[in-house]
Amino acid sequence: MQITSLEGAGAEITGVDIRHLSGAEFAAIRQAYADHGVIFFRDQSLSEDDHIAFARRFGPININRFFLAHERYPEIALVLKEKEQKTNIGGGWHTDHSYDAEPAMGSVLVARQLPDAGGDTWFASMYTAYDTLDAATKEEIAGLRAVHSAKHIFGSAQNNFYKANEDTGGRIGNTAAADVLEDVTHPVVITHPLSGRKALYVNPAFTTKIAGYSEEASSALLMRLYAHAMKPDHAHRFKWRDGSVAFWDNRATWHWAMNDYHGERRLMHRITIEGCALN
Ligand SMILES: [Fe+2]
Repeated sequence: MQITSLEGAGAEITGVDIRHLSGAEFAAIRQAYADHGVIFFRDQSLSEDDHIAFARRFGPININRFFLAHERYPEIALVLKEKEQKTNIGGGWHTDHSYDAEPAMGSVLVARQLPDAGGDTWFASMYTAYDTLDAATKEEIAGLRAVHSAKHIFGSAQNNFYKANEDTGGRIGNTAAADVLEDVTHPVVITHPLSGRKALYVNPAFTTKIAGYSEEASSALLMRLYAHAMKPDHAHRFKWRDGSVAFWDNRATWHWAMNDYHGERRLMHRITIEGCALN
């Protein structure tokens, strides 16, 4: 088994069949995941049961509240875009589940049906985003907390992102679960629970405000942090192939699913693993 760092973010792991891992291979994969924030595998052939078994080795599975589920495996959320649909899921920089008090650790995404071209996913390292901030900004954000919410994305208000978009009907739902979810705060800089490294933990989709700041000051700081974090040299553009698997950590990365394959169907199976409170 070989672990190769990728330019920008993440690592590719080759020479391994993740259905049959030795104890040493599993430990090395877990360490690579903590170190790099996202790891990629090629040429795997996972059944749904294999996918579930691999994810369960890392922790309990989170059943998604908002995504359409696989009809036989509730543990598997479908990330789907039909050929006649225009809106994809996750089509902007974001971190899954930051709106939860204990955000999910990460997800294992398996390609099931890919367009002939396009549909790449970008991953950005929030370790690198933090490490490369200037000293004054690091000092300014140390000790700050930010508010995160799901309401404006998944809630029932007419102008909310997926609700306002009829094209996602049947793929994204359960607005009531977002409406009742209390907004939460997390530190702007977290100490990663697996690696012990510092990571920037705000994201353009679910972070609504810097706690204790005026709207103006909050939005000025967030825009500045986002502009820095989304620099292309902190990111890796992953090209999916049949048999590709990506396993990312929500606490150490952002991701962005490109929506450049209209007229073709794309289906991914996602399993999400529970996480913990962040400090
Ligand atoms: Fe996502």
